[in-house]
Amino acid sequence: DKNAPAKIGIVTVSDRASRGEYEDRGGPAIHEYLSEVLTSPWEPVAKVIPDDRDTLARTLISLADDMRCCLIITTGGTGPAIRDITPDITEQVCEKMMPGFGELMRKVSLEKVPTAILSRQTAGIRTGSLIINLPGQPKAIGECLDAVFPAIPYCIDLLE
Ligand code: MTE
Repeated sequence: DKNAPAKIGIVTVSDRASRGEYEDRGGPAIHEYLSEVLTSPWEPVAKVIPDDRDTLARTLISLADDMRCCLIITTGGTGPAIRDITPDITEQVCEKMMPGFGELMRKVSLEKVPTAILSRQTAGIRTGSLIINLPGQPKAIGECLDAVFPAIPYCIDLLE
């Protein structure tokens, strides 16, 4: 339905946030960012899940294939730790990778924090859905989205 608001998946990938050990600040920060920049109606579909391979794969597939989200933004799980699996599962479920998003986000992030080298964040396409990884730090959300945001509507238009 072309007139229905565009659905956007917001996925916080964090063992501790999913257990309620701390409040999820990444998901709400993405929601707030999108509310400020998007001009047409949209509907968030927010999930908070643990750093678990199967749970993340099922979540991304359901947001893309069943919910038909045109965009899915993840936060967290992009680093080198054993439990950090977000970019790996993103690549597993995508038909096509979009490496420019990760390259540009790391480049601008490196100007702010040297630890940006530790993020393996990437992006890709699954079933008409653009999936973009952001690091878990809430302040990384604006830093990264400012850089790639102009390319997002253009990329989504090319998927239709
Ligand atoms: N990128 C930006 N823009 N701002 C940040 O604060 N933090 C870095 C990096 N990228 C950061 C950033 C840090 S400390 C790590 S460990 C990696 O992202 C991976 O973070 P993640 O495992 O929470 O995804």
